Amino acid sequence: MPPSATTLSVLDLANIQSLARDDMAAVDALIRRRLASDVVLINQVAEYIVGAGGKRLRPMLLLLAAGALSHRGPDAHQLAAVVEFIHTATLLHDDVVDESDLRRGRRTANAVWGNAASVLVGDFLYSRSFQLMVELDRLEVMKILADTTNQIAEGEVLQLLHVRNPDTDEAAYLRVIERKTAVLFAAATRLGAVLAGADARVQQRLHDYGLALGYAFQIADDVLDYASDAQTLGKNLGDDLAEGKATLPLIHAIAHSDDDSVRARLRAAVEHGDTEAMPEVLAAIRATGGLDYSRRRAEDYAQAAEAALEGLDDSDYTAALRGLARYAVSRDH
Ligand code: IPE
Ligand code: IPE
Ligand code: MG
Ligand code: MG
Repeated sequence: MPPSATTLSVLDLANIQSLARDDMAAVDALIRRRLASDVVLINQVAEYIVGAGGKRLRPMLLLLAAGALSHRGPDAHQLAAVVEFIHTATLLHDDVVDESDLRRGRRTANAVWGNAASVLVGDFLYSRSFQLMVELDRLEVMKILADTTNQIAEGEVLQLLHVRNPDTDEAAYLRVIERKTAVLFAAATRLGAVLAGADARVQQRLHDYGLALGYAFQIADDVLDYASDAQTLGKNLGDDLAEGKATLPLIHAIAHSDDDSVRARLRAAVEHGDTEAMPEVLAAIRATGGLDYSRRRAEDYAQAAEAALEGLDDSDYTAALRGLARYAVSRDH
């Protein structure tokens, strides 16, 4: 009899990290080695953001997905570095677009070197990731990553179209986060399966796991933007409202506030990216249960991610993948 969902083991973050430690060390070394450029400013900016750390979740997911299918090796390290480079490029660009000035507990690169340097070094990391990818010489891998980076760009532009739009609803929000965030998680886990030589059905399962996890992760991020503190998060709170970005907690508050004047003020806060309205926005989110609602939605996606793993052989690696689904929604940064 296959184990039921309740009897399957789940690793916590510390155990996941120790399971992936050697492979992640190899990935980190590769990332450092391949950041190099003889253009000094590129090294400075790239070292600055990479050296600040980050959770390295996407490369870890790729390694764990491959490991769940009994595959480990240099090709997985290389692709793990590729997905982290792509992620880092999007962060450099995102902080320019969002006008953010804190990331990974440090001033953002745009705050230190300006927008132009951030955008251009982001482009460097993007293209460096493609150089690394091409070295593997596998068309299937190139197709996945070409499609993924294209969708991320679409997601960012789609998000731009919704900025300062108080009519942004949950469906529109989900369309944005699928592309800007979830597809990269899906690519990471699918690529793990591709490297392991998995059949199309198993590749699809790992893709579905990563996609659902990515939704959960971004919704949790959007909750943290209202509910954490800058010290813990390593990013400033309230950046989303400042940007006029309606994320799920606020979308829920706008949809469920029954006081017309409150609703009008929430809509105006989105239209003007008005951080002075933050106390009122927080009160409305609290009154409508916007954070709990968003956390529940994130948990639904995390559960869907776990469900997508059903049918894979149980191992430490699948237990780690289940653990990461739970971590994505319980994390504090
Ligand atoms: C930040 O991603 C961008 C989002 C998709 C929310 P992470 O929270 O994974 O950032 P780092 O790499 O750990 O800094
Ligand atoms: C994630 O959205 C953006 C990317 C996918 C790069 P956010 O704008 O919420 O990410 P943070 O909060 O700045 O990390
Ligand atoms: Mg941002
Ligand atoms: Mg955020």
